Amino acid sequence: MNPGLPIQEESDGRLIGIISGQERPSLSMAGVAEQIVPVTLGERSYDIVLHPGLLATVGDRLSALTTSPKIGIVTDRHVANRYLQGTLRSLCKAGYDPTPIILPPGERTKTLSTIAKILDALARHKFERQSLLLALGGGVIGDVTGFAAAIYQRGIPFVQVPTTLVAQVDSSVGGKTGVDHRLGKNLIGAFYQPRAVLIDPLTLRTLPRREWIAGLAEVIKYGIIADEEFFVFLEQEIPALLKLDEAPVIHAIKRSCEIKAQVVAADERESDRRRILNYGHTIGHALESLAGYRGLIHGEAVGIGLVQEADLACHMGLCGRDVVERIRSLVQRAGLSEQVSQASFTSLWGAMQHDKKVAGGRVIGVWPVRIGEVVIRPIEQQVCAAWFQSKHGHGSRPSSGRQPGKHPVRRKARARRYIS
Ligand SMILES: NC(=O)c1ccc[n+]([C@@H]2O[C@H](COP(=O)([O-])OP(=O)(O)OC[C@H]3O[C@@H](n4cnc5c(N)ncnc54)[C@H](O)[C@@H]3O)[C@@H](O)[C@H]2O)c1
Ligand SMILES: [Zn+2]
Repeated sequence: MNPGLPIQEESDGRLIGIISGQERPSLSMAGVAEQIVPVTLGERSYDIVLHPGLLATVGDRLSALTTSPKIGIVTDRHVANRYLQGTLRSLCKAGYDPTPIILPPGERTKTLSTIAKILDALARHKFERQSLLLALGGGVIGDVTGFAAAIYQRGIPFVQVPTTLVAQVDSSVGGKTGVDHRLGKNLIGAFYQPRAVLIDPLTLRTLPRREWIAGLAEVIKYGIIADEEFFVFLEQEIPALLKLDEAPVIHAIKRSCEIKAQVVAADERESDRRRILNYGHTIGHALESLAGYRGLIHGEAVGIGLVQEADLACHMGLCGRDVVERIRSLVQRAGLSEQVSQASFTSLWGAMQHDKKVAGGRVIGVWPVRIGEVVIRPIEQQVCAAWFQSKHGHGSRPSSGRQPGKHPVRRKARARRYIS
């Protein structure tokens, strides 16, 4: 291990540095086969490897990916507390020289100043072109690590080791990396693919329940956009998934990764087909933005978006009411909200335009035609307004009281741009 540790620096009153970790409980790998999902992108192709207990073998899995002994482990304090020591041990055992870079948890870490701190640490520890970065954590850690890897010495290899459900089924796959800007979420970034995605589903056992349920919204999304059979599986297995039963959890992650990998392989840079991954996100992002990124976490906003965008598709005559009700029922059974109160149409439409704006003020949306199939179409303001009024009444701003299952948006919050 690097003798120069711990790194410990002041950063806007926060710290980047090593903290002591606790050992994770021993992991059983008995009886569960390793799953591999390829992401086919020519010379940028890589594998998603899924195996309970994988974290204990992470060091052995890197030998094919780098010739340098230096590994930078970027993680956050919550994840470091639970999983850093085990990861370090596995890397040291495999002969690597790991340098942990520990960041504060949460979205506020996704800034350019964090990138500067990571780059400082890499330069100080003389990381070279072949040195590898490991992103150990949720989507925030994956996004910042990938972006730092994309720009340090014009690109060094990085590997995703996602530890949240959102990261395991979504953010670690596909190569979108970056940080937020004061004027917009994900405004700065790069497409930069990892060399591998190594998923240990046992890490989900320590995830806060709210984060787990929010991640289920992204899993449900995959069924709606691409696979009715998977949607039926989720309808049947949602009670088991909520209990974190191992077999359905592994299947849900694997199938989600397969769908994301297929979509990304067809359209790496989101010129067309990849947009289908934004289903539920046009309204979801708008609600997140209007809530000032506080009241709702991302997956909770997406859960509402899944239902409301299906309802809007039904209003446009693109799908039947039965499709909306199936989506609504599954979202509710997953423990997610499906309605929003206190948004005026003007603020909602304004925030939707910040997300996916096209010429003439039309918003490009993704709409289900049935479970397992979506279409990409622009929507006109008048159509969306008519739908909104049919739900809430003219010019509506529904009741001020918080209703069960409904999330209020902050009235004074101004929408920020949101790049998916
Ligand atoms: N790049 C992409 O394609 C893409 C896709 C979706 C989302 N994202 C980004 O991902 C971010 C959200 O990711 P997220 O939902 O994983 O949030 P996150 O990274 O903030 O993690 C959520 C919380 O869970 C904690 N945590 C992580 N793993 C844990 C574990 N195993 N046990 C206990 N606690 C754990 C974290 O410390 C944090 O407090 C957003 O910034 C979003 O923009 C990116
Ligand atoms: Zn999402």
